[in-house]
Amino acid sequence: MNVPHPIPYQGSKRNLAADILRYFPAHVEALYEPFAGSAAISLAAAVQNRAQRFHLNDLNKPLMDLWNAIVNSPEQLASQYAALWHAQLGDPKAFYKKVRDDFNLTGRPDLFLYLLARCVKASVRYNADGEFNQSPDNRRRGMALATMREQLFGASYYFKGKTTFSSKNYRDALAPVRPRDLVYMDPPYQGVCGNRDTRYLASVQFCEFVELLEQLNARKIRYIVSYDGRTGDKVHGRVLPAHLELAHMELEAGRSSQATLLGRTDATVESLYLSPALSAELVQPKMIYHFTKCEQLCLMESRP
Ligand SMILES: C[S@@+](CC[C@H](N)C(=O)[O-])C[C@H]1O[C@@H](n2cnc3c(N)ncnc32)[C@H](O)[C@@H]1O
Repeated sequence: MNVPHPIPYQGSKRNLAADILRYFPAHVEALYEPFAGSAAISLAAAVQNRAQRFHLNDLNKPLMDLWNAIVNSPEQLASQYAALWHAQLGDPKAFYKKVRDDFNLTGRPDLFLYLLARCVKASVRYNADGEFNQSPDNRRRGMALATMREQLFGASYYFKGKTTFSSKNYRDALAPVRPRDLVYMDPPYQGVCGNRDTRYLASVQFCEFVELLEQLNARKIRYIVSYDGRTGDKVHGRVLPAHLELAHMELEAGRSSQATLLGRTDATVESLYLSPALSAELVQPKMIYHFTKCEQLCLMESRP
């Protein structure tokens, strides 16, 4: 798939998008991505024409303002990015710091795009006052101008006229979803119940999330969740409870960098959970549990 990717974003699911899209049902009216980030799954779905409409949501408001600018004014954003990119060349370090200060005052989409293209590991970090405080990656100058232009126009082409943007809490973003829609959820690292810390937009409470999944089940909503994972035998994150009756699939996400450093060959495996309404539509849910990755895919491909 040649999928545009204008927003460099740590944790993007772009490398798993083709695998995840295999679990989409045949007909999706609207695709909801309440933890959108760089919207890798919605973009891939738009390129493959797998949904008629898209609802992107992320609690990070400047990120959703950036998405709005990408989709609705790519020409202006490409020119603004080019101006910033050229202006940095005299003293890139000092320039980055100035842009970061300006962004923290204004929240402007062009400044955010530049920061995401230049910061360490494309990783969004905020301080206790909610200010973006990630450092620049001084070895790089940010995505080349022609490439960025292509990515911005590509994303705009696929989303324009059929996509809405919001920056609500994920539960509120899912209030209007209906059984003919599909929800893809990729929540951030899960915090412990009662230990609320929204400063870094980095934690979603496990019990609240499970409660939302229970409600979606009761409403017969089709959804897919990316959640825990494992490297070799080591499990990362909490496993979702059995009473939700989710079909659990495992996707190979490649070798972990830690394992490679240690000369081991442990593969990182990411979990994908399908809601009862979705797995019932794809195949008999009881069957899904017992298949290996390769067999799962064959099973999906052979559906009518
Ligand atoms: C793991 S990232 C999603 C990455 C995305 N799948 C991609 O391909 O780029 C999780 C996102 O959830 C957002 N987020 C965190 N807490 C949230 C909340 N309570 N409601 C909505 N979004 C939230 C974060 O800002 C972050 O962008």
